[in-house]
Amino acid sequence: MWLAEVDSTQAHVFHLAGEGAPDGTAVIADVQTAGRGRRGRTWQAEAGTSLLVSLLMRPRLPTPQLSLLSLAAAVAVAETLTDAGVSARIKWPNDVLARGRKIAGILLESRVGAAPVVAVGIGINLLQRGFDGDLEARATSAYLETGRTLDRAELLMALLARVARWRTCLETEGLAPVRQRWLALSDTIGSVVSIDGVTGVARDLAPDGALLVDDGTTVHRIVSGVPDHAAGR
Ligand code: BTN
Repeated sequence: MWLAEVDSTQAHVFHLAGEGAPDGTAVIADVQTAGRGRRGRTWQAEAGTSLLVSLLMRPRLPTPQLSLLSLAAAVAVAETLTDAGVSARIKWPNDVLARGRKIAGILLESRVGAAPVVAVGIGINLLQRGFDGDLEARATSAYLETGRTLDRAELLMALLARVARWRTCLETEGLAPVRQRWLALSDTIGSVVSIDGVTGVARDLAPDGALLVDDGTTVHRIVSGVPDHAAGR
């Protein structure tokens, strides 16, 4: 469903899920009036400049493994952008960067219960010619990276195919193939990071998806969770 305007495609996905919408339902919007980012932040994009999409998933995964979908989604976004000519890299857990600047963000929210629902929200900066204020140094768009105006519908189709592929891979083969691809696309491993109060060198992605950060004394396991949508309201 492609909407001209919505509060948040995430909220709309949960609304549709409540009405029994099927697995794989996609909500796309030209503009959001209350776009949501990770850690309670907002996500703003001028009308028509970005690909804003949320996918409804009823994953065939145990609840503790739902957060692994964010790694699969990051791989899918990075590969889609790479195919479109952007040198995309993944920053833990699922920011997608180009030349060290953020080009796409991914937000997973869940509603757990007898049959968990996950909303996988993806925002990709496509057509922005520049960014204001402190974003100027931290954000980029596909246009700024390639000099080309990518077609949103075409990119969406490519993205949906990649997400479906990596999601199925996770559900049927476990994390190993996703982890291998995530590591190959990672901008994080080997660099110094500061996450959840831990500063050190990111050494590896553990087989269960935790980031292993070495502060010189201890190797810390950093785990990325999926916030419960209902609890966040
Ligand atoms: C982040 O903070 O990096 C995650 C940003 C996720 C933004 C996308 S845009 C489509 C979907 N709808 C939302 O309200 N948020 C996500």
